[in-house]
Amino acid sequence: MKLSRKLFLLSAVACGLVVAHGPARAHAAHGASDPADERARQVLAHMSLEDKMSLLFSVDGGGFNSSVAPPGGLGSAAYLRAPTGSGLPDLQISDAGLGVRNPAHIRKDGAAVSLPSGLATASSWDMDMAREAGAMIGREAWQKGFNILLGGGADLTRDPRGGRNFEYAGEDPLQTGRMVGSTIAGVQSQHVISTLKHYAMNDIETSRMTMSADIDPVAMRESDLLGFEIAIETGHPGSIMCAYNRVNDLYACESPYLLTRTLKQDWHYPGFVMSDWGATHSSARAALAGLDQESAGDHADARPYFRTLLAADVKAGRVPQSRIDDMAQRIVRSLFAQGLVDHPPQRAPLDVVTDTLVAQRDEEEGAVLLRNAGNILPLAPTARIAVIGGHADVGVISGGGSSQVDPIGGEVVKGPGKKDWPGDPVYFPSSPLRAMRAEAPAAHITYDPGTNIAAAVRAARAADVAVVYATQFTFEGMDAPNMHLDANADALIAAVAAANPRTVVVMETGDPVLMPWNSSVAGVLEAWFPGSGGGTAIARLLFGKVAPSGHLTMTFPQAESQLAHPDIAGVNANNVFEMQFHTDQELVYDDGSDVGYRWFDRNHLKPLYPFGYGLTYTTFTTDGLVAGSHHKQLTVTFNVRNTGMRAGVDVPQVYVGLPDGGARRLAGWQRVSLAPGESRQVTVRVDPRLLAHFDGRHDRWDIPSGRFRVWLGHSAVDDSQQVSVHLSGRTLAP
Ligand code: BGC
Repeated sequence: MKLSRKLFLLSAVACGLVVAHGPARAHAAHGASDPADERARQVLAHMSLEDKMSLLFSVDGGGFNSSVAPPGGLGSAAYLRAPTGSGLPDLQISDAGLGVRNPAHIRKDGAAVSLPSGLATASSWDMDMAREAGAMIGREAWQKGFNILLGGGADLTRDPRGGRNFEYAGEDPLQTGRMVGSTIAGVQSQHVISTLKHYAMNDIETSRMTMSADIDPVAMRESDLLGFEIAIETGHPGSIMCAYNRVNDLYACESPYLLTRTLKQDWHYPGFVMSDWGATHSSARAALAGLDQESAGDHADARPYFRTLLAADVKAGRVPQSRIDDMAQRIVRSLFAQGLVDHPPQRAPLDVVTDTLVAQRDEEEGAVLLRNAGNILPLAPTARIAVIGGHADVGVISGGGSSQVDPIGGEVVKGPGKKDWPGDPVYFPSSPLRAMRAEAPAAHITYDPGTNIAAAVRAARAADVAVVYATQFTFEGMDAPNMHLDANADALIAAVAAANPRTVVVMETGDPVLMPWNSSVAGVLEAWFPGSGGGTAIARLLFGKVAPSGHLTMTFPQAESQLAHPDIAGVNANNVFEMQFHTDQELVYDDGSDVGYRWFDRNHLKPLYPFGYGLTYTTFTTDGLVAGSHHKQLTVTFNVRNTGMRAGVDVPQVYVGLPDGGARRLAGWQRVSLAPGESRQVTVRVDPRLLAHFDGRHDRWDIPSGRFRVWLGHSAVDDSQQVSVHLSGRTLAP
C-alpha cells in the first residue's frame, strides 16, 4: 500500500504546532540539577548575544571546500573559535566513526588507526568491544588535538546497496542503537564529543541532497528513530547531526517533528543538533525547527545562514532570543558534560601498536563465517595454499568518503588516479598474505593476483586449498548500482572453485553481496572492510588462532528482486554530483518498520544468509527456554552449552512476535564465551518498546494485551525453539 501524500502533509502540519513551544519545553527538560547544565548557564550568563551567536556557526576546517585551515584550526571538517574570555575551548571538529580523518593536503601527520567498518563492529554483537573500539578512536582524536568526532552512524541499512552502510550498524533498531551507542560511549570516555548521525532516514545515498524519504511517522518511530533513540540512551552523544535528505517533505535539518518534537521533547535530548555539511537551507526556519549549530557554514551551505541572517531574524523578532539562549545552552552544556572544558586535548604521539591491536580484535570478533563445508576451516598449518586476488599480498580495502582514514604507512595499492570523488579505493597496509605466512610458517603459501583467471586456476590446482580474496568498494555519495563483487571476482571464484573445490572465499565488502558461486565453494568468511589490523585478524581466523564469532546484522538476499525496493531510481547517474542531486524524488518507504529481516519474514522470503547468522569452529546447543513477565518486564531464560571440542563464543538471539501479528522483532541477545563442555544459564530482559506499537497520536508506546511468541535461535529464521507468553496490555511511561 502506498502511503498517501496527505498523511505526510498532515504530519507536517501537526508539527507546525510544536514550533512555537519546542525550544522552551526542551529547555525545561534539561533539568536544573544537571551540573553541566548549571555550569553552562553560569558561563552564558556573562556572554553577550553576539558571543552566544558565534557558538552557532562553525567554519570549514580545511576539509570541505577550502584548501587551508582557518587560523587556530587544526585542519579538519570544521572549526569554531570560542568567544574570547569565555573559558570555553575552540571546537576542533573531525571525521568520523571509524577513525580520525584529516585532510591530507593540509596535515601531513594526518594518518590514524582505522577500525573495521561499522558493520564489522556491529557483527560482533559485543557492546564492550564496541565501547573499546570507540575509546580507541576517541583517544586518537584527543591526542591529535580534536574534541569533536563526527561519528557514529545509526541510520538503518534499509538497502543492501547503500553506499554508506559500512559506516552504519545494520538493519535492526535495537542492535544498531546498542552497538552504535556503545561506540559513542567509548569515544566520549576520552573527553571527546561523539556525533550521532545522520538524523534521520539517510538510508541511501542516491539523491541524498534532494530526495524525500517518505514514511509513516509511526513506522519511523518503530524503526529508524527507535535506533537513534536507543543509541542516545546508550551513548549519550553530546551532539547529533541532522541529515542532508528531506523526511516527509521537510529537510531533516528543518523538521520540527524530528528535531524538536521527537528528539528534544519526547526523548529529552539535552545536547545540540549540528547540520551535515551543506544541509542547512535557512536561518529562522531551521533555528525554530530545532537546529542548534550550522556546520562549516562559510563553505558548505548556499549562504552562511546562522550568521548575519539569523542575527537579523532575532532583531526582527522572527526568532526569539530565548531560542538563541537555548541553542547556546545546549552546545555549552555538552562541552561541560563530555569533559571538553576540564580535560582539553593534549597533543601526543599515537600508540599505534596498541590501537592497531584494538582494531584487529574488533575485526576478529566482527568477521562472519558464512560457510564451512567439510570443516575446511581452520586451515591446516602445513597446507599448500594458493592465495588469490584482492591485493591480499599488500593490504585490505576500505570504504571511501568522509569516513576514510589515511592509513599509517601509506596507501599500498596505486590506483589509476581517479579524479572523481572519492578517488581510488584506499588499501590499508595490513597484508593478509604476509599475516598468513607469519601465522603458519610451515605452510606453503603462494600468491596470484587473480587478474588472469587461467593463471589463478593453475595456482589453485597446484594447492591443497585456494583462498580467494574478493572485494566490493563502496563509498559515501553513491550507492552500489548492483550487489556484485568488484571486477572479475564472481567469474574468478567460479573458475577457481571448479578447479579446486577446496576453495575458501574471504570477502572484503561494504555491503552484503550476491554469491552465485556459494554452493560450489567450501568456505566463506565475510570480513567486511577489515581496518588497520585486518590482515592479521583474517589470518588468525583462517588458521584458528581465534574462532570466528561474528553474526550478520544484515540479511544477504538471494536476489535483488527479493528487496523491498528492487530498483533504486537514479542509481545509474553519470557521476557522483548528478547522483546526489539527481532528482527531488520521493522514496516511499511503504515497507514501513519492516526493515531487512522483518521484510523477509513478512513476505515469507528465504534469504541466502539470514540476519543473526554466523558459524564458528565449535557447536552449541540451547535448551530450557522459559519466558515470563517479572515486574512487568518480559524476561527470557535459557541454557547454552558448548558441545564441540574447542572454546568458542555463541550469540543466541531472542525474537518476539506480537499478538496482533506482524513480522518478528529482535528483542535481545547475549554473547556467551564457553569452554568445551561448559554450559551457562542466560537471562535476556526485553526492552518493552519491542513489545509495543507506537501510538502516534499521543507519542507513546502501547503494549497490546495477549499472547506473545518468543523465539530463541541463532538467526532471524531459526524456528527451532519457541514458547508463548501472555502479557497484559499497558502504556509505557514517557
Ligand atoms: C558527511 C558527514 C561528514 C561531513 C563532514 C558530509 O558530507 O555526510 O558524514 O561528517 O561531510 O566531513
